[in-house]
Amino acid sequence: MVTVLRLGHRRGRDDRISTHVGLTARQLGADKIIFSGESDSNMMESIEDLTARWGGFFEVEYREDFRRIIKDFEGVTVHLTMYGLPFKEVASEINGEKPDKDVLVVVGSQKVPREVYSLVDYNVGVGNQPHSEVTALGLFLYELNNGKIPEEFEGAQVKVVPSEEDKLTEKVGE
Ligand SMILES: C[S@@+](CC[C@H](N)C(=O)[O-])C[C@H]1O[C@@H](n2cnc3c(N)ncnc32)[C@H](O)[C@@H]1O
Repeated sequence: MVTVLRLGHRRGRDDRISTHVGLTARQLGADKIIFSGESDSNMMESIEDLTARWGGFFEVEYREDFRRIIKDFEGVTVHLTMYGLPFKEVASEINGEKPDKDVLVVVGSQKVPREVYSLVDYNVGVGNQPHSEVTALGLFLYELNNGKIPEEFEGAQVKVVPSEEDKLTEKVGE
């Protein structure tokens, strides 16, 4: 099971990018996202609504105490940061040595508290340049999933019919 922890959400300022962190986590195979920072039920509901329509079992939760989440996590903890170790090597190490372990992937927003770096098992860089939590999360989860993107989302009401030149969907079960 893969859980994503999004640190330091700011209502208003981070709505869009926090939603995208959640949607990226879901599409790339995570089972759950925990938001920390400011509580934001509207932002979380937008991810839950999308999950209800497009399927899958993706949990969305808010918890204030991110330190407790990292400390209590039973499995491998990874913090995505531009200062970290090469992501492909770490993903391969986790997949090779601990294939059945649960994984917690931590991403920041504003400045990440220094202690996070020492609370986790791995600090991981997706490149060592500053970019985005959405990109870093997507690429790391893709690597952790051995280059696969989940296609089946159980319980979906609707799904896309891939098309070269149109926006096609169909209701599931029809
Ligand atoms: C826009 S950055 C801001 C980071 C903040 N300035 C700091 O120094 O802690 C937000 C988040 O994107 C992720 N991120 C940005 N660049 C990254 C990289 N090269 N590798 C991994 N994660 C990255 C990290 O999770 C980071 O906390």
